[in-house]
Amino acid sequence: MSDEYRFPDGFLWGAATSAYQIEGSPLADGAGPSIWQRFVHTPGRTVAGDTGDIACDHYNRWRDDVGLMQSLGLQAYRFSINWGRIFPEGTGRVNEAGISFYDRLVDALLAAGIEPLPTLYHWDLPAALDDRGGWLNPDIAHWFADYAEAMFRRLDDRVKRWATLNEPWVITDGGYLHGALAPGHKNLFETPIASRNLLLAHGAAVQRYRAIPDATTWALSSISNPKYPATFEERDREAAERSAAYMNRQYLDPVFGLGCPAAMQQIFGQAWREWTDEELALAAQPIDWLGVNYYTRGLMKDAPEKWPVGADYVANPEATYTETVWEVFDQGLTETLLWVKERYGNPPVYITENGSAFYDPPVASRGRVRDPLRVDYLQRHLCAVLEAIRQGADVRGYMAWSLFDNLEWSLGFARRFGIVHVNFETQERTPKDSAVYYSQIIASNGSALGSEPDAVLLSAQARGVPLGSVDQPVRVAAHGS
Ligand code: BGC
Repeated sequence: MSDEYRFPDGFLWGAATSAYQIEGSPLADGAGPSIWQRFVHTPGRTVAGDTGDIACDHYNRWRDDVGLMQSLGLQAYRFSINWGRIFPEGTGRVNEAGISFYDRLVDALLAAGIEPLPTLYHWDLPAALDDRGGWLNPDIAHWFADYAEAMFRRLDDRVKRWATLNEPWVITDGGYLHGALAPGHKNLFETPIASRNLLLAHGAAVQRYRAIPDATTWALSSISNPKYPATFEERDREAAERSAAYMNRQYLDPVFGLGCPAAMQQIFGQAWREWTDEELALAAQPIDWLGVNYYTRGLMKDAPEKWPVGADYVANPEATYTETVWEVFDQGLTETLLWVKERYGNPPVYITENGSAFYDPPVASRGRVRDPLRVDYLQRHLCAVLEAIRQGADVRGYMAWSLFDNLEWSLGFARRFGIVHVNFETQERTPKDSAVYYSQIIASNGSALGSEPDAVLLSAQARGVPLGSVDQPVRVAAHGS
């Protein structure tokens, strides 16, 4: 194994999930329904009518799932909290049964030597709040801050790193502009309002938290999808710039105190209103780290007919594409991390999601799931992270998306992102080759990246790590405090 691939000491290795995608039992123990619960039960909204009613049944199997994480050698687990389990009506009364689910999960993770990394909002808004306007109602900043406060009062003695929102761009573009995600609106005027209220809610939660002594650390997890012009033409370069402003800078610039990108006015036209100084100040509450979710890049061309950004995606005939039709472009991760370093003053970054959907059979074959394309994706992207670190980016951890195959939102269960295979008929979990490979990378703090993945898998097997069920892995020392 090569030291050349070793990550910095203390680098945090983990995997990520989100509540609605894995928990199941969405209404158990007094939880209130979320907008996703409503959305998936509306005919035609998800592929094959799939729902999160059972998903990975993690709500009942969480203890075994933590054991599985431990067997893989994970040092951190990023999960999200379902707001409606805590506040069934969105505000007001705390539901003890709901909050204690996460309380027990955090205890079990810590007992297993795994750092809990909770995200407060991964898209499952309480339906009761949607009935009051949801992300369009400016009161949501206070509703969210109240919810955040309830969570950190309960868990902050054990949680060191919190994240507020997961991917505000997807929430607004999918939920309010194009309607493919809950709550399923298609309204240009609503979109910048929802964006603003999301960032104000983020800022209000961070601000509220800062008032409490002994605060730990806060962040926002944003998707970062770099945009490249498809040609050398000026109009395509501008289209790529507009797309990047819309998807990435719309959220990160205000959070890092750079205001709203000028392109927003151009994109939203009459639907855009400038933010007040108070709003800008609230969104720009200092954060301690940034969560970066990276999957792919966008190769863009000018397309005035493409509403509202005036840009369209172009396929790269030379590239490999995942099952979600995303180009595998690992170099984009290095460039994204370096862009964050340059533009935002090199904040500490945790990769809070990175992963790929490739076809895996619904049932593991003789206890094993071979997923060479996912292994390749993982290796390439981890090397890309290392390259960014070598060039000075302050990257401190990596969370693979996803720990489990799960409900890929409106695409249902057919798109598998897990490093652990889930048989949705039996709920059996089978670590795929990618999970075994990842466990060896973790155990070697990256050094295994220097060997061919097949050799890594074979040597793991030779050392008694059975492919398909990792019950005797090399356990790494728990991550330092
Ligand atoms: C989301 C995940 C999702 C993944 C793959 C991210 O945008 O945070 O919930 O499953 O992408 O589509």
